[in-house]
Amino acid sequence: MVKEKLKVLLVEDNPTDALIVKKRIQRDNAFEYDIAHVVSGEDALVILEKNFFNIVLLDYNLPKKSGLETLKTIKAKNIEIPIVMITGQGDEQVAAALIKEGAFDYLPKRDGYEDSIPLMIRKTIAEFRAKLERENLQKEIVLRKEELEKTNAQLMKLDNMKSDFVANIVHELRTPLTIIKGNLDNIDKGFAGEVQPKQKEILGDIFRVINRLSRLVNDLLDLSKIESGKMELNKESLDIVKLAGESVKAFETLASSKKIGLVKEFPDKLVIVNADKDKLAQVFVNLLGNAVKFTDNGNVTVKIIDLQGEVEVRIQDTGPGIPSDQLDKIFDKFVRVLAETKEGTGLGLPIAKDIIVLHKGRIRVESESGIGTSFIFMIPK
Ligand SMILES: Nc1ncnc2c1ncn2[C@@H]1O[C@H](COP(=O)(O)OP(=O)(O)O)[C@@H](O)[C@H]1O
Ligand SMILES: [Mg+2]
Repeated sequence: MVKEKLKVLLVEDNPTDALIVKKRIQRDNAFEYDIAHVVSGEDALVILEKNFFNIVLLDYNLPKKSGLETLKTIKAKNIEIPIVMITGQGDEQVAAALIKEGAFDYLPKRDGYEDSIPLMIRKTIAEFRAKLERENLQKEIVLRKEELEKTNAQLMKLDNMKSDFVANIVHELRTPLTIIKGNLDNIDKGFAGEVQPKQKEILGDIFRVINRLSRLVNDLLDLSKIESGKMELNKESLDIVKLAGESVKAFETLASSKKIGLVKEFPDKLVIVNADKDKLAQVFVNLLGNAVKFTDNGNVTVKIIDLQGEVEVRIQDTGPGIPSDQLDKIFDKFVRVLAETKEGTGLGLPIAKDIIVLHKGRIRVESESGIGTSFIFMIPK
């Protein structure tokens, strides 16, 4: 096996000591040693600047530039090398100071101290390498973290740009849509000449599509406002029982045309919450709209439960239910399970959820295929 070659710099002014140490190191069989010997701190610095060493054994008692001064200078020059100080008899008390100045370890010159030098060299180099590895790893972690933070910031910027872009486009779509609707209305009312039955039929189809488009545009606008944090709540004290009653009333015609019942289970007293009336009404419309839309038999029940500090609202139907594997996605944008059977944008639930969350409330769904669905939301009083 090829032995690793370790380059040792011995800084020692006493020739006898230097010889003893060199000989002792060379007797160690674990490594091949290449020992350079200098007699002063000044020489040590010169040779260290030009050559690579694995370790420095530095005598504390040197003439002229002392061991401590030499140690400080090496450290100041940022030379990455472990330094073991060889202290004289009685110098032990300086050990702490030497370690503080960056010495890796120290070895007092007692009788036979040279015998512990080979082990000291091995131990020091191993520990120094482990320390370097740890430091490199830490640097790597810091670097990666910085990279991630940068990427994250870029993504957030892009996401904001995307949101602004959507908001602008959607906003721009509203004006032409309004104009188209107004003009169609004029044609439909006969202001541009008599309308034939076939033309009336076609106009009806166009109206349906245009209405769908404006629903989508309005929903998108709401969502982009919520997502960009621009949606503000105009909170007031309001009776949620009254608001729910009005919302249910708006669906009576549709429900009776589908022959489904609309059941109210309300407390017979006011239940006051602090909420944005229009936004909360929209939550009712979105949830009731779904319940009535997807239910073809049975009832839609709205239940209000007055709890301590909050109000629970349940909108329960006897519709087809939502498959359990879809339940956790149902509040995501554009998710529609029965898309082909009913009209919709897939934005009603995300909007409802955002509005409830803006009110510091919670919303959840319970559903069983073939049995029905309940949307439950809680809103603080
Ligand atoms: N009461 C309900 N019963 C069954 N499915 C529902 C109900 N409410 C919502 N869903 C499912 O959730 C999807 C998303 O609802 P929503 O966000 O309101 O979008 P949309 O109503 O425009 O399709 C619906 O397409 C439907 O698949
Ligand atoms: Mg809907």
